[in-house]
Amino acid sequence: MTNRLGRLMQFPRAELAHKPTPIDQMPNLSVVVGNTQLYVKRDDCTGLAFGGNKVRQLEFYLGEAVAQSADTVLITGAIQSNFVRLTAAASCKLGMQCHIQLEDRVAGVDKAYKNSGNVLLDRMFGANLHYYDKGEDEIGADRRIRSIAQSLKEQGRRPYIIPLAPGHPPLGSLGYVLSAQETINQMETNNFRFDEIVVASGSGHTHAGLLFGLRALNCDVKVTGICVRRDAVAQRKRIHSHCTEIARLLEMNSPVEESDINLNDDFLAPGYGKTNPPTMKAVKLAAQMEGLIVDPTYTAKSMAGFIDIARCAEPERVMLFVHTGGQPAIFGYEPKLTEYFT
Ligand SMILES: Cc1ncc(COP(=O)(O)O)c(C=O)c1O
Repeated sequence: MTNRLGRLMQFPRAELAHKPTPIDQMPNLSVVVGNTQLYVKRDDCTGLAFGGNKVRQLEFYLGEAVAQSADTVLITGAIQSNFVRLTAAASCKLGMQCHIQLEDRVAGVDKAYKNSGNVLLDRMFGANLHYYDKGEDEIGADRRIRSIAQSLKEQGRRPYIIPLAPGHPPLGSLGYVLSAQETINQMETNNFRFDEIVVASGSGHTHAGLLFGLRALNCDVKVTGICVRRDAVAQRKRIHSHCTEIARLLEMNSPVEESDINLNDDFLAPGYGKTNPPTMKAVKLAAQMEGLIVDPTYTAKSMAGFIDIARCAEPERVMLFVHTGGQPAIFGYEPKLTEYFT
C-alpha cells in the first residue's frame, strides 16, 4: 500500500476474506450485449459463508471489536440481509455471540422471504434473533439495537455494535479502499485497463471505499454505483459524506471530486428488495450466459444497470462488474423465481 494510504494498515483487522478475488471474463454476455469486453470481479467468492462484499467490510468492524475485547456483536438489517448473515458467521469464527435485528423493510413478503435463505443461515449460525417491524427507519432501528446492547451490558457482556445509520466512522468502506489496490494490481498484472467499474450502491460503503481508494491511488477509472436502496439524489449525498469521513479516518484530504460520483437509479423501482422486469432478466442472463448467480435485491439490480450501461457504451469499451454476492437471498425469493423460470 502506498504511503498515501499508509494509515489504513494501522486499523485493527480480522482476517476473514479470501483475497484477491478473481477477475473473470464474461465472453457470452459480451456477445449478447455487443461490442464490449465485459469482466466480473468475483467478490461473491470472498470465502466466508457464501461470501460477498460484506466480508471485506467486516474485517475492519470485527477487527475493532476484537481490539476492544468485545464478546458480543450486534447488527441490524433487512430480513434477507447478507451483512447480517455474514456477521453471524464471522462471530462464530471469532468466538463471539451475535445478536441480530431483522427489519421488516420490504412490504408484502411471503413465508420463504421470512424464513429461508439468509434467515435459515442466521439460525444455523446460532444468532439471537430480534425483530423490528416499523419498516424503513434507519435511525429507529439503530436506536433499538443500542437498547439491546445496553441490556446485554447490564448482564455483564461486552457488546460491539456494527452501526447502520450515517454518522459513524465508515470502517466498512476501508475494506473497499483495500480492494481498490487489489483491483489496480490485477489490472497491472493482467495488462488490462477498465474503462468503467459498476457496483451496487446500498449503504454506499462499497461504492465509496472503492472510488476513494482508486482516486487516492491515482487511478481515474470511472465508477458507477447502481442504486438499490434510495434514489440517486439521496445516495449522492451519502457517498459524498462517506468519502469525507473516510478521508478523516485516513487523515488525508478526500481525493474524490463531486463529479466523480456517478449514480444510476433506473433499476431501483418499485423499491428496495422489490423486483422489476430488467432485474429478473438480469438474473436469467447472468445464470444462462455465464453461470453466475445474482440476487434480486442487490446484484441483479446492479447487473441490470451494468448491462444497460454496456449496451449504450462506445464500441470496445472494457467494463468490470463487481459481483458483491447475495446468493443465499435467492431462496427467500423462491416463489417469484420459480414462477419466472417456469
Ligand atoms: C449482496 C450485496 N451487494 C451489495 C450490497 C450493497 O453494498 P453497500 O451496502 O456497501 O452499498 C449489499 C448490502 O448489503 C449486499 O448484501
